[in-house]
Amino acid sequence: MASSNPLAAEDERLPLILGFQPLADTTARKTAFAERGRGIYVYDTDGREYIEATASFYVASLGYQHEELIDAIERQYRELPFYVSALHRTSRSALELAEKLVQLVPMANAHMLFAATGSEANDFLIKLLRFGAVARGEPRRITVIGRHGSYHGGTLATASLTGGHHEEFGLPIDGFRHVAQPDHHGDRLPGESGAEYSARLGRELEALIAAEPANSIAAMFCEPVSFSAGMKPPPAEYFPTITRILDAHGIALVADEVITGCGRTGQLWGSQTFGLAPTHLTLAKGVTSGYFPLSAIAVGRELYADLERGSERFGTLAHAATYAAHPVGAAAALKTLEIIERDGLVAHGARMGEVLARGLGALRDHPLVGEVRACGLAGALDFLRRDVDDRPVNDDANAVLEGVYAALLARGVVARPTGRSLVIAPPLIIRADEVEEICRRVALALDDALAHA
Ligand SMILES: Cc1ncc(COP(=O)(O)O)c(C=O)c1O
Repeated sequence: MASSNPLAAEDERLPLILGFQPLADTTARKTAFAERGRGIYVYDTDGREYIEATASFYVASLGYQHEELIDAIERQYRELPFYVSALHRTSRSALELAEKLVQLVPMANAHMLFAATGSEANDFLIKLLRFGAVARGEPRRITVIGRHGSYHGGTLATASLTGGHHEEFGLPIDGFRHVAQPDHHGDRLPGESGAEYSARLGRELEALIAAEPANSIAAMFCEPVSFSAGMKPPPAEYFPTITRILDAHGIALVADEVITGCGRTGQLWGSQTFGLAPTHLTLAKGVTSGYFPLSAIAVGRELYADLERGSERFGTLAHAATYAAHPVGAAAALKTLEIIERDGLVAHGARMGEVLARGLGALRDHPLVGEVRACGLAGALDFLRRDVDDRPVNDDANAVLEGVYAALLARGVVARPTGRSLVIAPPLIIRADEVEEICRRVALALDDALAHA
């Protein structure tokens, strides 16, 4: 996206830091300035129109300028624009949202703790797991397992839980371990079935647990399908295998549904799509369509009992966050969930996902494409190709990805390049003709990239 910024010459560094890029790139010439949005479209300061084909990092589930949602937020601002939730006080909207979410999450008798971001939700849960372990008389059970390639947040603990970018930050801090991310297309041995591959990952997890001190692992965090790792739905055998092992060792399974929650995977929760029974669950992003930062932790029954016991023993649960359970965020989430339910947007998203899967599936035989994946309203093109003997053939998948991503951007579609894959996951309100338009432009971008390869 070319952009103009009256404050800066084209190549001058801007006075802000943008992550996940070299900082020297933060110039007006290389930075896109979004000015307004409507539906699935965003317009930059040069008036260029883009389809936000990832709902802007999988957040704006209702698209831009959803008037009904904006009205609900405005109403809450006029009624009670802020109130803290702690010390025997909260707001009516925070309680209503908790009541709503405990009905919706795929867990029995959950209690909700609110926060502002996905990072906070995961971080606070890690902290609660520690408090619960102390309260239970198992204070050494604090290690948490993540998976390579997964993203869980930007705080010290969640960046440690995240499966990458450790070295440059001197991470992980103590108490974090990592196992493989399911990547059957990229990592399978030639001819290795999904079941065999899952069994191999299960053995890796068992070996990790065996190498740790007994009863020292509290939880394993998994996104039902990891978007940061390239949206690779695991083989059907993967989660049953992992769950069996975790259960055998009394290790909690945490579903990080920050992206997969609220309808992305064709059901309300990714846990339902992949048959998970999470002990705890975190959610954020799409729950407010990004119109206000709000996240939540669904705390499982047993941990809640430990927390209550601990708070009795210590006289308090010494945890709060000023903006957690923000009444405006709660109002935004309540209205977003109401619209999703009332307008049947989970089923609609699933139907639009079928259109997306068909459109991207037609590109399976393109010379640059190694695999096409689909899950709910999400699709991915993987640029690692395999030969007739099922061996990976190209080591330039990342470079191909960069070329296709840039070509698609030039054609006015913002997708997400990650690992070897290009991920598409538009707002839930998208129409079939708009999905087809994305697929048409992806096909053109593949040809553009091939011509320049
Ligand atoms: C799966 C997952 N968990 C947690 C987070 C962190 O959320 P936030 O950026 O709101 O802190 C993200 C962010 O992309 C995510 O993808």
